[in-house]
Amino acid sequence: MAIKLIIDTDPGIDDAMALFYAISDPGIELIALTTVFGNVTTTQATRNALFLLETAGIDIPVSEGLHKPRELLAYPPSSHVHGTEGFGNLLIEQPKGQAVSESAPEFLVEMARAHKGELVVCPIGPLTNIAAALDLDPEFCNNLKRLVIMGGSLRAGGNITPVAEANIYHDPHAADFLFRHGSNITLVGLDVTNRVICSRDYFRKLAEQSPILGGMVNQMADFYIDFYETVGKFEGCGMHDPSALINCVAPDLFVTEDHKLSVICCGEQSGETISDSSSVGEAVKVCVGVDADAVKKKFFENVAKLK
Ligand code: BDR
Ligand code: CA
Repeated sequence: MAIKLIIDTDPGIDDAMALFYAISDPGIELIALTTVFGNVTTTQATRNALFLLETAGIDIPVSEGLHKPRELLAYPPSSHVHGTEGFGNLLIEQPKGQAVSESAPEFLVEMARAHKGELVVCPIGPLTNIAAALDLDPEFCNNLKRLVIMGGSLRAGGNITPVAEANIYHDPHAADFLFRHGSNITLVGLDVTNRVICSRDYFRKLAEQSPILGGMVNQMADFYIDFYETVGKFEGCGMHDPSALINCVAPDLFVTEDHKLSVICCGEQSGETISDSSSVGEAVKVCVGVDADAVKKKFFENVAKLK
């Protein structure tokens, strides 16, 4: 049976890839999107989420999330990585649809209660909405089947600072709160996503098989890979958000270790994820190994079936 899934997202190039993956995999029943700032502002994230769904012909609710981090001031979006509108040089049409009236934290709490024990929530942006949902309902995480987070790094270093992964860095207080008070958490961080690297060739082939949506992914990926080339670290781009989505349906492709976690919330190391046995929180399943070839195969085989 397909898993019921909500993605909390800041689209974002790899967020768009993750969303297209979610709609292409028959093992996923995507029931809604919630939006957050990060790669773009929250207002842009909502517009981009609606745009992607409408382009793909998918009619599900989008709920707009919070506009700034739990304690820090709002950040400027990461336009050098994802472009000023979120999708590289791709032009975005104004969507026809609108977000639902409930804010993302309220909507998430409601959905977790309605689908108690069955819902997987996959945050692929900063954890602001998720922490706020846990504020609203202390049972929020317990009501989920799993909370599969793209974020953090135990041993791989950072991607926005030498020690911090971007999603955790953009709201460290939210992440720290969640690691101390949440449950059912799997972390898909840079320890594994930095190993799922795709060159331009993968995306060019995808565009041939799926001219419309795969073609969009190919155009966005060009911009994303240009950024990665300036950093000079990889021959291609890291499949961060798609890897988290694939963990939702195929956890067996990953090796995990249990760690209690906390997050440094100030100073030069702000956003660093720490294995902290003294933390009051429940242990998190931290992904430390991945069958990268199988993850890539699963991604491209499924997305290639789209229009
Ligand atoms: C994460 O940061 C964002 O730029 C990506 O969309 C991904 O969610 C990777 O660190
Ligand atoms: Ca993202």
